[in-house]
Formats: sequence, structure tokens, C-alpha cells
Amino acid sequence: MNSVRPVSPDRLPELLRVMPKAELHIHIEGSLEPELIFALAKRNGMALPYANVETLREAYAFTNLQSFLDIYYAGASVLITEQDFYDMTRAYLERAAQDNVIHTEIFFDPQTHTARGVSMETVIKGLHRACVDAQAELGISAALILCFLRHLSEEDAFGTLEQALPWRDLIVGVGLDSGEVGNPPEKFARVFARCRELGLHLVAHAGEEGPPAYIWTALDLLKVERIDHGVQSAKDPALMQRLAKDRIALTVCPLSNLKLCVFPDLAQHNLPRLLDAGLAATVNSDDPAYFGGYMNDNFTQTFAATGMDAQHAWTLARNSFDASFADAAARRGHIERLTACFETFR
Ligand code: ADE
Ligand code: ZN
Repeated sequence: MNSVRPVSPDRLPELLRVMPKAELHIHIEGSLEPELIFALAKRNGMALPYANVETLREAYAFTNLQSFLDIYYAGASVLITEQDFYDMTRAYLERAAQDNVIHTEIFFDPQTHTARGVSMETVIKGLHRACVDAQAELGISAALILCFLRHLSEEDAFGTLEQALPWRDLIVGVGLDSGEVGNPPEKFARVFARCRELGLHLVAHAGEEGPPAYIWTALDLLKVERIDHGVQSAKDPALMQRLAKDRIALTVCPLSNLKLCVFPDLAQHNLPRLLDAGLAATVNSDDPAYFGGYMNDNFTQTFAATGMDAQHAWTLARNSFDASFADAAARRGHIERLTACFETFR
């Protein structure tokens, strides 16, 4: 089903909520809600520099990516035990399942934790156990993507990869995140080449705040299969053509872009333009606890602001399954469920 019947504007939000979808860009540390930050701090006997949940939430007023990252890394410091990592991941998976996310590929930032003395084993075992339980209990499939922090060195990234190797089979791929400008993809070309040899899938944040040149080098030097964000590609017509021709998925995060001032308002977000140019864009939540919304909030608010329609909804959900690292049989099953959902909206 490639063209869908029109859906009346009053039924569109319901369609967006109930349609099955995959989330391909979620930082698990960015799903830590203030309530859970306080609960984990208490459990671990840690003091926080905020009096309560409300004052912490009030600090979530960001001007750019770095202003967010400072508070995000501080929030993640309450994660100490395997159970902490489990509880965080379980809470996200329950919330995602409510939004009819049926498959998710979860980023995690091990260097944020290993630098504080938390072992790679603690991090990965907690995340993985939550994914296994969620598949059995919630019917949502989840895979893990280890992200290297690009503000740190190549050497630190190689050391992190080494530490993760005993759990290689619990990881579907690697990514690249943290402060983009001044940390171009080429800094990690050799690490990504090694990950490629190991058979890991490759993705990278590029063109969130950084220039189109970073998207070109993520593709040509890192050889990534998806670009995380990628919204700055609209500044480079040749890049748009390349992304469309090669069906490189962009994992776009509208509410994140709004909160980090990448676009002045959602009505000016370029998602419809990217889709209409034939790019394989998807919708994702990035750091939902910090940016004011999970998957369905991203869909409903962006559609309301930009006037996208049911055809766009179909394309976004279909792209999310096509671009996922699930195996071919699972992807076919996901697309069948999507088709069945749209049939009920005839
Ligand atoms: N880490 C968590 N969220 C991020 C984002 N939006 N960009 C880069 N690194 C991140
Ligand atoms: Zn991100």
C-alpha cells in the first residue's frame, strides 16, 4: 500500500496515535524523568543540586545542544547499579508501548557511566535484561546501539569498544553523539572502520546543528547506514539528492529541534520538505524526558503545526520499519500490522 485514502483532519491525531511505529532515535539516558532521577538519587544516597522535581524541570530551558548536554550528563549521574539501568529502560519501554511503538533501537552512552566507575557490564546487563523482559511482557522488540561521545578522543572510543566486546552480541550497532560542532565524523573514521569489521550496524548524529559537510563525511568516511537528525541537509541540494537516491534514513526529532532552537517553531520544521523531496525521514523522540514529549507527542504536534496528512503518516511509519535493523521477516510483519491499521481508517 503506497498511496493511502485521505483521513479527515479530526481523525488524523487518532491515526497517528494508534498506528504501529518504530523508534530509531532515543537516548535511553534522555528518557530519565525527573521523578526517576530523584528516586534513584535517594536509593543511591546521593544529593542533587535541585530541591525537588519541579525545580529540576524548571532548569530544562535550553538555548542550544550544549546547554542541554550539560544538564543531561548531570542527570545520568544517578545511575549506579544494574537495577538502575533496568528501571530506566523498563520505564521507557512501557511508555513507548503505550504509543504503539512496536520496535525500538535504543542509544546508550557508556562513557558517561564508565568515566564514573560504573562498569560496562553493569550498564549493558541492565539495559539488555529490560529489553528481554519487555519483549515477553509488553510485546515490544528492542535492540541496543552503543554511542561514542564525540567530544572525547578517538583513543577513549577505542577503549570503550574494547570494553564492550564481551557483550558484542547484545549490541546491534554503534552511533556517534554529544556536541557536534567542532567534533566532525572524521575524528572517528578508524573506530567506525573497526566496528564495521565486527559486523555492527553504523549510525551517526550529523547535521543537527553541524553543517551538511558533516553529513557527507558521516556517509563517505564513517559509512553510516542512517543519519541521526540530518535536518541541515536541506541547505545542500546535492546532499538531498544523494540521501534520496541511496534511501539513507534520517531519524528526525521535531520536539528536540524545537527545544534546542534548531527551528524557531514547529510550523517551520522542514520535515514535510524532506519527505516531499523523497528522503526517507522518520519521526523520533531523542530525549523525551527533557524535550516535552514521547513518540505520539512528536507526531501529533508536528502534524498539527505543519499540516501533514495521512499519506505523510503512512510514509513516516513505513520508513521507520524499512530503516530499522530488525531482520527481514520481522520488518515484513511490522509493515503488515501497519497496513492493517490503515485499512481500519478507510
Ligand atoms: N545526546 C543526547 N541527545 C543528543 C542530541 N540531541 N544530540 C547529540 N547528542 C545527544
Ligand atoms: Zn540524539
